[in-house]
Amino acid sequence: TTTLRAGEGVRKLAEGDYGKGYTELLSKLTTVGDVSEEDFRAQLHFLETERGGDYCILVVEDEGKSRIMGTGTLLVEHKFIHACGSVGHIEDIVVLPEARGQGLGHRVVAALIKEAGERGCYKVILDCAEKNVGFYEKVGMERKEVQMVKYL
Ligand code: ACO
Repeated sequence: TTTLRAGEGVRKLAEGDYGKGYTELLSKLTTVGDVSEEDFRAQLHFLETERGGDYCILVVEDEGKSRIMGTGTLLVEHKFIHACGSVGHIEDIVVLPEARGQGLGHRVVAALIKEAGERGCYKVILDCAEKNVGFYEKVGMERKEVQMVKYL
């Protein structure tokens, strides 16, 4: 469970979040591998200084526990089609297992969709497992076409 109060906010990923369990949280989604605090800071610095306009990584912190409970990423892609339009890609959505089912995931995804709108995206898209379709439908997304992959 979480000590988060209703209405407590979603904010941007910050330097101190490594120490608040950001990579442990990501490990509940997939393999994180070796990411030292220095690696984390360097990557965050790169994203902020070189890719600031196109990346938005949001977190929800339980401030009582200084723990990052949920996160999600928006990546903005710039196209020539659709009158040089932009598409938002939602990636790496995860909530700590003990904090699921309390609306945190919804809050993060809704904030990313809002952010995409403010950055001028005409749509947001994502890939997910079949079992998560219902979760994304709750934020107003709909199923479309298929995902393909080739690992390199
Ligand atoms: N299927 C159907 N409905 C769901 C599901 C699901 N798998 N998960 C949640 N919901 C519903 C909830 O019941 C709730 O409905 P309500 O508003 O009617 O009460 C609504 O969706 C919002 O749920 P939250 O409580 O905000 O979801 P939660 O905080 O538990 O986060 C998440 C959901 C992120 C999928 C979480 O279960 C998780 O971290 N799973 C493991 C990692 C994962 O699979 N991430 C998604 C990868 S895909 C990607 O990143 C693009």
